[in-house]
Amino acid sequence: MSVIRGLFVSVTLSALIMALHCKADQYPQQWNLTYKWLDRFTVNISWKKPIGLADDSGIKYCMKNIEDDNDEVRVNDKLEIIKTLLTEEKRTDSWTYHIWTIGDNSSQSNESVPAMYTIRTLKPRDEVVKDFKCFAITDKMNCSWIPANRSQNLVLSYRIIGRTQEEIQKLNKCDETYSNGERDGCYLHIEPKPQNIFVLVETDTAMMTFIPDIDLLPPRLSVKEEGVNLKLSWNASEFKKMCRESEYQYEVCYSECNEWSPCQKTSPGKSSMEIIYNKNCQYEFKSRVMTTEYCFSLSSTFAEPVIYGTNKTPDETLTVVAIFIPIILSACIILSCYCFRRYIFRHSTKCL
Ligand SMILES: *[C@@H]1O[C@H](CO)[C@@H](O)[C@H](O)[C@H]1NC(C)=O
Ligand SMILES: *[C@@H]1O[C@H](CO)[C@@H](O)[C@H](O)[C@H]1NC(C)=O
Ligand SMILES: *[C@@H]1O[C@H](CO)[C@@H](O)[C@H](O)[C@H]1NC(C)=O
Ligand SMILES: *[C@@H]1O[C@H](CO)[C@@H](O)[C@H](O)[C@H]1NC(C)=O
Ligand SMILES: *[C@@H]1O[C@H](CO)[C@@H](O)[C@H](O)[C@H]1NC(C)=O
Ligand SMILES: *[C@@H]1O[C@H](CO)[C@@H](O)[C@H](O)[C@H]1NC(C)=O
Ligand SMILES: *[C@@H]1O[C@H](CO)[C@@H](O)[C@H](O)[C@H]1NC(C)=O
Repeated sequence: MSVIRGLFVSVTLSALIMALHCKADQYPQQWNLTYKWLDRFTVNISWKKPIGLADDSGIKYCMKNIEDDNDEVRVNDKLEIIKTLLTEEKRTDSWTYHIWTIGDNSSQSNESVPAMYTIRTLKPRDEVVKDFKCFAITDKMNCSWIPANRSQNLVLSYRIIGRTQEEIQKLNKCDETYSNGERDGCYLHIEPKPQNIFVLVETDTAMMTFIPDIDLLPPRLSVKEEGVNLKLSWNASEFKKMCRESEYQYEVCYSECNEWSPCQKTSPGKSSMEIIYNKNCQYEFKSRVMTTEYCFSLSSTFAEPVIYGTNKTPDETLTVVAIFIPIILSACIILSCYCFRRYIFRHSTKCL
């Protein structure tokens, strides 16, 4: 009797263990994961706690992008993740994730079989604009782009980077737009700071979301003669805004009598430089501004070249000699002839 009961108990136990095991394998079907876009940049991914896990088992969830090892999040004691997903970061409008549990308790089967879910944007991604560029100007940003299809209506919106309710609500539509030949543009009334804003560009049928790159405007160089030197200086106050003054430096490349020297940089924080001036030479200067690694990594393109002085080559000196010597010589000859004739005239009137 007791043998039968023992057998019965052990059969029940093993059935229970098997059932537990099966449950673990069933987790993928139990997530009921859903997602909701809070705006075009931010998605709320939520799920149900898989059935079969004890309430107090200290479950952690892990979510990992199947194509990107760096895109992995762990969640403790919550059934949602608020995530930023930008189409231009990965050039996609769908992201596929594995989600699974990691328990704290070593006594339990702590890791479930990953379930796979795909998140899609509300509108398909398409390259609706090309070559999107922003320049920092004192209190705003000057952004411009090449539209992919001019006959399509294009709307640009932007907001400060972030995932909170407050940040999500502050989406601005760009209204100060302009057209400049091939490029269209817009002034964004927001503090110019790198990695500061999300941009959404959309047409009726497609969209792009991204964090724009910011460039500095090419600096204006002034050149002044100071003793035996040429003093090169830039107006640092044009750039102060984003980084500290000590974090800017300038690079200058110049030619002296058409001979280019290696480019030079000012030390950080210094907005002038002196070079020895050869007055017989013409100079061409190209310069740009950049930040040190302590303040993002911004730079401008080279500004329009600045020309200073004129080339006075030895050839020119020879030309001058070649023109003036014959003139002086002939003047002398004419003068001496004249004197000679006057002399003859005075001394023998008969000859004439
Ligand atoms: C998932 O959804 C189905 C159908 O709505 C439901 O029967 C099931 O209980 C849900 N699972 C969880 C873990 O809530
Ligand atoms: C995310 O979605 C879940 C489920 O719909 C909801 O309970 C939660 O409040 C949402 N979170 C935010 C920040 O909207
Ligand atoms: C397992 O979880 C329980 C309840 O949360 C906790 O009291 C216990 O210390 C955990 N055991 C281990 C080994 O972490
Ligand atoms: C389960 O959790 C324990 C303790 O955290 C850990 O040592 C073990 O490797 C985990 N098991 C799996 C399969 O991850
Ligand atoms: C803004 O950028 C456009 C195109 O690059 C340019 O034509 C315009 O002068 C810029 N505006 C200012 C204020 O710098
Ligand atoms: C540009 O957009 C218009 C209107 O949506 C469409 O009819 C046309 O085919 C598009 N052109 C190209 C080259 O995609
Ligand atoms: C330097 O730039 C600032 C800001 O653009 C301007 O107000 C100032 O007049 C400029 N100074 C010189 C010497 O050009």
